Order: sequence, then structure tokens, then C-alpha cells
Amino acid sequence: MPIASQSHIPDFLYGTAWKEDRTPALTELAIRAGFRGIDTANQRRHYFEEGVGQGLAAAYRDGVVTRADLFLQTKFTYQRGQDHRLPYDPAASLSVQVAQSMASSLEHLGTEYVDSYVLHGPSSGYDWTESDAEVWVAMRKEHDAGRTRRLGVSNVSLQHLEQMAAAHNELPVFVQNRCFARTGWDRDVRAFCRERNIVYQGFSLLTANAEVLRHPLTTELAAHANATPAQIIFAFARMVGMLALTGTSSAEHMKQDLASRDLVLPPDAVQAVESLAG
Ligand SMILES: NC(=O)c1ccc[n+]([C@@H]2O[C@H](COP(=O)([O-])OP(=O)(O)OC[C@H]3O[C@@H](n4cnc5c(N)ncnc54)[C@H](OP(=O)(O)O)[C@@H]3O)[C@@H](O)[C@H]2O)c1
Repeated sequence: MPIASQSHIPDFLYGTAWKEDRTPALTELAIRAGFRGIDTANQRRHYFEEGVGQGLAAAYRDGVVTRADLFLQTKFTYQRGQDHRLPYDPAASLSVQVAQSMASSLEHLGTEYVDSYVLHGPSSGYDWTESDAEVWVAMRKEHDAGRTRRLGVSNVSLQHLEQMAAAHNELPVFVQNRCFARTGWDRDVRAFCRERNIVYQGFSLLTANAEVLRHPLTTELAAHANATPAQIIFAFARMVGMLALTGTSSAEHMKQDLASRDLVLPPDAVQAVESLAG
């Protein structure tokens, strides 16, 4: 069974990867634009988690939101996904690394808990390994200690999830994957999630699917709805049950991405986009 949830899950997540020095200002801008879910990772190579914390502090200071209004998600990343700027002692056990990474995340984000803690990726591209099991048990401890409200896994295949389900009593609340239209928008993993009430978070919905953004079906749906192709993809994602991430750095795109929540596509259009490329 998924771990019980205690706070609201937002309907869009703002992704903070690859923003470097712009991270504080863009995090604050996203909150001012209306995003209430923020995705980051304690992986300095691709994210500046401390900068996310600075953006949050600025938003709190100006009374835009309080901590309770937000959904903060961060990740534990194995050493092989990191550069030299590690948030833990690499000589320590994986369990200790998880605890150290979490402590560092809470400090970066200026909070006593996160809303979701995600394993950034399993240790093997094929199997759910002993290392993953050790990390997952350590993440469960973080949950039980109140430092995260929910748990998730990222960059997983159906095989990872099936092996994980066989090895543990507790399944994740979230699966976060790169979502390619050519795999039926991760059809198998989404079906696994749907059957078990796991929330599927889709990233790179635009960057992984340039051919869909250009496809006449998408551009015609966009023209008909007076929307952009990107908005059609985000509306489609929501209508098939995904929680979408956007990593936009543009104030205008932030508004458009959030406005896609008001778009309703007819069922045959959803069906057509779903089977467009896979
Ligand atoms: N778990 C993982 O391993 C993992 C991996 C990758 C990403 N993520 C997470 O997912 C987040 C999002 O990543 P992503 O790959 O989906 O996004 P992304 O690569 O940051 O890029 C989104 C792209 O779409 C464009 N865009 C956004 N809204 C648009 C709109 N309305 N119209 C036109 N273009 C638009 C952006 O351009 P503009 O900036 O010009 O708007 C940008 O080029 C990351 O920040 C990170 O938090 C997680």
C-alpha cells in the first residue's frame, strides 16, 4: 500500500534543474506566478538546492506564501549521479548517506520536513538491487521520523517497480519519469501506477517530444482551443492522470503552463494524442 499522505498534492510541479545562479529568482518567480509544487534534488551537478531555499525565503519574507502552502520535493542521488560536491560522506554506508543527504536538504530548503523524498534513480538500469533496498529502508526511516511526508522513486522501469513491489511492503506514493510519446507516454509504468494509486510525475514532456509538438494533430488542437502546442501537451498529461513538471525559465511560459489546467480536451483528442507516436 502507498504510504498515507497528509498534505495536498499540487496539480503542477515547477522543476528547478539547470538554473544555476538563476535558481533563487526563478523559484521565487514560479511561486509568484502560482506554482505551489517545487521539485529539486540534493545533486549540485544539476540542481542548486540551496538556491531554491533562497527563493523560498524571499517568497516567505514578502508574504507571498507560507511553508504550509507549498509542496517541496527533493531527491537522494547516488554518488555516481553526483560530481565532487557531495551532500554526504561517500565512505559512509548508504543508510547514513541518505540521512546525511536529507539533513543537508532540510538545511538548504530551510524547513523541518519535505513533502516528498525521491530516490533519483536505482543503482542499476535493470534491476532493483540490494543497494536500492537499503536506500529505500533508510528513506522509510526518514518518513517515519517525520522528515518527509511521502516517498517516491524516479527513472524506473516496470521491471524495477515489479521487483521493488516484491521486495518491500511499502510502495512509493510517486513515480517520476521522463515521458516519451514513443513509448505510449510510458504506458506500462503508468498502468502499474494507476493500478496501485501511485501518482505518476512526468518530466521532459516538451523536450522529449518535439515531434509531437510539431505534429498536425497537436497544432490543430491548439488552434481550435486558442492555445499553444505546449499547453495541449500539458492538458493531455493532466487528463490521462499525470502530474506534470515544467522547467521553464520564462515568466510568460509559467503563466501558459499553469493556464493549461483550464483546458479540457475531448476524449477522442486525448485518445488520439495518447496513441500518436507509440
Ligand atoms: N528525476 C530526474 O532524473 C529528472 C530529470 C530531468 C528533469 N527533472 C525535473 O523535471 C523538471 C523539468 O524538466 P523538463 O525536462 O520537463 O523541462 P526543461 O528541460 O527544464 O525544459 C522545459 C523546456 O520547455 C520549454 N517550455 C516550458 N513551457 C513552455 C511553453 N509553455 N511553451 C513553450 N516552451 C515551453 C522551456 O523553455 P523556456 O525556458 O523558454 O520556457 C524549456 O526549454 C526539471 O527542472 C527537474 O526538476 C527530473
